[in-house]
Amino acid sequence: MSATIALRAENIIKYFDQPERFQVLKGISFDVQKGEFLALVGKSGSGKSTLLYVLSTMDTDYEGGLHVSGEKMTGKTQNELAAFRNSQIGFVFQFHYLLPEFTALHNVMLPALKLGRKSRAQIEEEAMAHLSTLDLRDQAMKAASKLSGGQQQRVAIARALINEPSIIMGDEPTGNLDSRNTQVVFDIFRGLAREKGQTIITVTHDEDFARNCDRVIELSDGRVISGVH
Ligand SMILES: Nc1ncnc2c1ncn2[C@@H]1O[C@H](COP(=O)(O)OP(=O)(O)O)[C@@H](O)[C@H]1O
Ligand SMILES: [Mg+2]
Repeated sequence: MSATIALRAENIIKYFDQPERFQVLKGISFDVQKGEFLALVGKSGSGKSTLLYVLSTMDTDYEGGLHVSGEKMTGKTQNELAAFRNSQIGFVFQFHYLLPEFTALHNVMLPALKLGRKSRAQIEEEAMAHLSTLDLRDQAMKAASKLSGGQQQRVAIARALINEPSIIMGDEPTGNLDSRNTQVVFDIFRGLAREKGQTIITVTHDEDFARNCDRVIELSDGRVISGVH
């Protein structure tokens, strides 16, 4: 596998068994290049969230092969996957799942504290730097619950970036935002891919957002119908 490939999905197949057995992913294969900004699109129910969950390594109940950053994920233990995720993958969801009573700063610091590779002072400094980049320096000491929706989403992005993941995955990260904040989030992702070579894989139903990404992969009924050559 070439060193420029960030993620490789090989014939990913998945079934759900409830309420009855049905095949949700029907053989999905593609490569994502390092530094690529990729949009995953498709109608509601086409399997986007299910696929992202597999790609993120959180769901291990699939057939096929998954490689991330040159490492084979398929077959690793849950503990190995959890450690890999915390250092290599950052997540941004439509609903940010910040801890509401904690300050913005503390929310951003948490994944790094959990990783435990740096001192608290170092982590705090880096968290502040991310908040500053996202224009949130003056919000750092406010409880997350006191911030606006757009601010909270930017805090969630800072949190996703704190461990300098090679891949950032989003499931409709702008689904809750107005057009101005959607543009802000787009520009942040664009910059991360271009300037830091971080790989972005994000589900979106926003056509403008998708059009401006490097590539769009479209799913329909559990298959890729365009965007993979
Ligand atoms: N935990 C689950 N159990 C059973 N079926 C599910 C589950 N999660 C999703 N599905 C079904 O799988 C299909 C794909 O869902 P999903 O991946 O959420 O689609 P999308 O994100 O594209 O809207 C849908 O038919 C959905 O109802
Ligand atoms: Mg979804």
